[in-house]
Amino acid sequence: MLKKISNEIPKKLINKILHGDSYATMQKLPDDSIDLIFADPPYNLQLNDTLYRPDYSEVDAVTEDWDKFSDFKSYDEFTKEWLYECKRVLKPSGSIWVIGSYHNIFRIGYMMQNFGFWTLNDIIWSKTNPMPHFRGRRFTNAHETIIWAAKDKNSRYRFNYDSLKSLNDNIQMRSDWTIPICNGKERLRDHDGNKIHPTQKPEALLYRIILSSSDPNAIILDPFLGSGTTAVVAKKLGRRWIGIENNPEYITAANERIKNTSKPSPDAIDIKATKRDQVRIPFGVLVERGYIEIGEKLYCCKKKNVAIVKADGSLQSNEIVGSIHKIGAHYQGTESCNGWTYWHYLRNNNLFPLDNLREEIKSNLDQKIN
Ligand SMILES: C[S@@+](CC[C@H](N)C(=O)[O-])C[C@H]1O[C@@H](n2cnc3c(N)ncnc32)[C@H](O)[C@@H]1O
Repeated sequence: MLKKISNEIPKKLINKILHGDSYATMQKLPDDSIDLIFADPPYNLQLNDTLYRPDYSEVDAVTEDWDKFSDFKSYDEFTKEWLYECKRVLKPSGSIWVIGSYHNIFRIGYMMQNFGFWTLNDIIWSKTNPMPHFRGRRFTNAHETIIWAAKDKNSRYRFNYDSLKSLNDNIQMRSDWTIPICNGKERLRDHDGNKIHPTQKPEALLYRIILSSSDPNAIILDPFLGSGTTAVVAKKLGRRWIGIENNPEYITAANERIKNTSKPSPDAIDIKATKRDQVRIPFGVLVERGYIEIGEKLYCCKKKNVAIVKADGSLQSNEIVGSIHKIGAHYQGTESCNGWTYWHYLRNNNLFPLDNLREEIKSNLDQKIN
């Protein structure tokens, strides 16, 4: 009999920063074991000269050795290796986010498609406070691109549409995100006030990424953890995480930062309740289930307009027949109307909005979901 290879991740690797090369370290992870990957790889900025501001002070650019590659070919080879491992460890239902700038994102995007990842969006992170272009020879580079892709074309990836909409004051979240670069208290600095990590990402960026594309308790992998941003936000949102980083100084700073991050209560991160918003309940269901009787009268809040409920869930008012929304809109003189709040039913001489009954049905559904 064939032995089934387990894709359970050893407990000792979870909620840990693994010290080492990302490609070699990912090989310790089983196939199809990770729910979500966020990768912020070296940019390959290829900065040869020191940059100076007009007052001759030095610009704080990314000049670390980890960002240096001899040429595009060696950068591509490096990228292929870690992307190959990402594809292997990602669950079939998983997705991956990769952030980069014009220096590297097009090369990475091309390779991701060649590996069979299925692009879902490219997010533009528009920086409210980008670094100016000191030499004045190009436009200020004020954004980075984040590719979001599913494991393959047929993946049933996670997308918490309602949570993102709710985060955005009930407006559909767009693919251009305006978020400041990491500054202020959030920025890790040493005793002399120098940045500990040159490319520490803002937590707000990871917040949207993790909230939108994973569930509580999911396992999130960051193969280039740096200062630990992904782990910190994963912890705040009640997700599990694995980080890989090869620089011990960054690991020390990240571990300290993660230790100082508190875990939320399970109730606060449970967003299952928003599943109810995906359930559409037609008015007819209220009639079918006897919440509203056939022939019952519905009223607007001041009882000025009255309609009678018909057997098929439509309303009749004077000579007009239509949905709760259509008849409500007719009386309001508007193109559309929310019939659930416009129409009321009468119980013990009191009027209640139809929406109360819809909520009752939804909370029964919630109990089944939970
Ligand atoms: C762009 S930074 C990531 C920053 C991170 N997102 C944050 O918010 O702090 C890339 C990180 O990858 C690390 N790195 C570069 N090459 C690596 C490799 N081959 N294996 C593991 N880590 C590597 C660097 O030390 C650096 O911290």
